[in-house]
Amino acid sequence: MARNKYDIDEELDKGFDFSKLKRAAVYIKPYGKLLLLALFLSAASSVLALVTPTLLQRVMDVAIPKADQGYLVKLAFMTLGAILLSVLFGALRGLIMSYCGQHMIYDIRKDVFDHLQALPFSYYDSRPHGKILVRVVNYVNSVSDTLTNGLVNAVLDLMNLFFIAIFMFMMDVKLSLIILSGMPVLLVVLVLLKNVKKRANFVFNNKNSNLTAYTCESIEGVKVSQIFNRQKENMSIYDRLNRVYQKTWFHMAYLNNALGPITENLKQVVLVLVYVAGILWISPSVEVGVLIAMATYSSRFWQPVVSLANIYNNFIKTTSYLERIFQTIDEPVDICDKEGAVEMEGIRGEVEFRDVTFEYEKGVPVLDHVSFTVKPGESVAFVGPTGAGKSTIINLISRFYDPVSGEILIDGKNIQDVTIESLRSHMGIMMQDSFIFTDTIAGNIRYGKLDATDEEVRAASRVVCADKFIEEMPEGYETKVTERGGQLSQGQRQLVAFARTVISDPAILILDEATSSIDAETEKLLQTGIERILKGRTSFVIAHRLSTIRNCDKIMFVNGGRITECGSHEELMAKKGDYYKLYNAQ
Ligand SMILES: Nc1ncnc2c1ncn2[C@@H]1O[C@H](COP(=O)(O)OP(=O)(O)OP(=O)(O)O)[C@@H](O)[C@H]1O
Ligand SMILES: [Mg+2]
Repeated sequence: MARNKYDIDEELDKGFDFSKLKRAAVYIKPYGKLLLLALFLSAASSVLALVTPTLLQRVMDVAIPKADQGYLVKLAFMTLGAILLSVLFGALRGLIMSYCGQHMIYDIRKDVFDHLQALPFSYYDSRPHGKILVRVVNYVNSVSDTLTNGLVNAVLDLMNLFFIAIFMFMMDVKLSLIILSGMPVLLVVLVLLKNVKKRANFVFNNKNSNLTAYTCESIEGVKVSQIFNRQKENMSIYDRLNRVYQKTWFHMAYLNNALGPITENLKQVVLVLVYVAGILWISPSVEVGVLIAMATYSSRFWQPVVSLANIYNNFIKTTSYLERIFQTIDEPVDICDKEGAVEMEGIRGEVEFRDVTFEYEKGVPVLDHVSFTVKPGESVAFVGPTGAGKSTIINLISRFYDPVSGEILIDGKNIQDVTIESLRSHMGIMMQDSFIFTDTIAGNIRYGKLDATDEEVRAASRVVCADKFIEEMPEGYETKVTERGGQLSQGQRQLVAFARTVISDPAILILDEATSSIDAETEKLLQTGIERILKGRTSFVIAHRLSTIRNCDKIMFVNGGRITECGSHEELMAKKGDYYKLYNAQ
């Protein structure tokens, strides 16, 4: 098996080029003034550094032949001063550029993260989380290096080149032309290498992304892997991905490193040419000092050229990262506030589905023309087989997805006409899988209401019968729990998530399998608490254990994306339909 399902590459638009660097200009702009200052310092630093060969030439051609000691000392001090100032300006420039670069990275990373927070469920449904992670962490980090050091050096090198060229030409035009003669050769090499390298970077990014995705998934699923003794297979899958990663890395590195030696060799050839031409060809007109100074200029000229070639390399790599970063930022937020959306203020809690059809994937309807009305304060239970569409219905009420057709109304108002934030602020939603954040237990409960007092946290825990086990823990409410909810049992995790939902005191309460992992005894205790919280608010309860939903005002039987039966427990039992069968089966 050469490839596997974990080694799926992302397709990206092929027509991209350096335009992505232009796009990055948005992030560079706020630091424009600082960059100008840095530019000025660069210029000053370069000019000062360049004065030294001229001073050296004076030493060789004037001070030494004339044995002028005073002039020699003066030249020595001038050289020292120039070097010191040049270093000082250079250091300042470095500081400013790093400051700007790191702030740009901060801005980019913030934008990516902010956008990720806004992206709808569907975005996360459709791709491995590792591939998202690699963009926020690795790619942004890699971009950082080029936008800081790369930018710093590119500007400096360009300025250096410019000034060295001026100094060179002022000293000797013919030798300067010889020094420049290597440039066309280098340009041809750059053009030839560009597309090959772009391709190599592209392939490497994909392999890097696939490796990270598999690593993430393996960490998340490690327990299942160990249960099924899958370690060997996993290692071999990982080994393959790792090997491919390594191979593409070598290929990319090989291409990237090719440019360094080529430029370095060109530099040496040009230097030899300068000496040969200086000694043989132009000999009578060239003084020794001029020749030495020109040789120094030659290597000084080619130094920034070598460095620029490397920066160019990094820019190619960076654009391929920027492409993916911007692709993430540009990902449309399908579920967003409509223009002119209004705040949804204090609600009564009437919920109506009007002929709602929904599909996760085009052409596969999951809800099929669903209509129902729930009066304010009513409690509704959804029951039905696995995969029937129960969770989907409640996902639509909170607008985690939008229906393909039909309308969902709260208090007679289409939920698409109000702001999402205000809509969700009226809802307490407990999802089927209760996620616990890395925090204390109290912190996790407070997630539902950031300004909740300690007493409110305790009260919410009491309502869902979580108080007992929390107080028995060594640090009580301050016990630290981790992302996966380590330290807590499945049922305890569920109770914490339940308390988190209850604490916000929502007008509409949605409980998706809120008590599925809780033992029958505790559930019975919980029942009174639940009945108390359901009272006076519209609530939707999904439960496979029918004993917990008997008392709901209305029970809807969902099957195949439709509501096939609706009524109170007694009515449905009398009907002797699907609900009756299900109930008796339990
Ligand atoms: N994110 C998703 N992307 C694509 N299809 C989905 C997604 N979530 C659910 N489905 C499909 O939609 C259908 C309804 O799923 P839903 O989660 O609403 O079922 P459910 O009634 O809540 O089942 P359960 O009792 O197992 O929780 C299922 O057939 C499932 O295949
Ligand atoms: Mg469900």
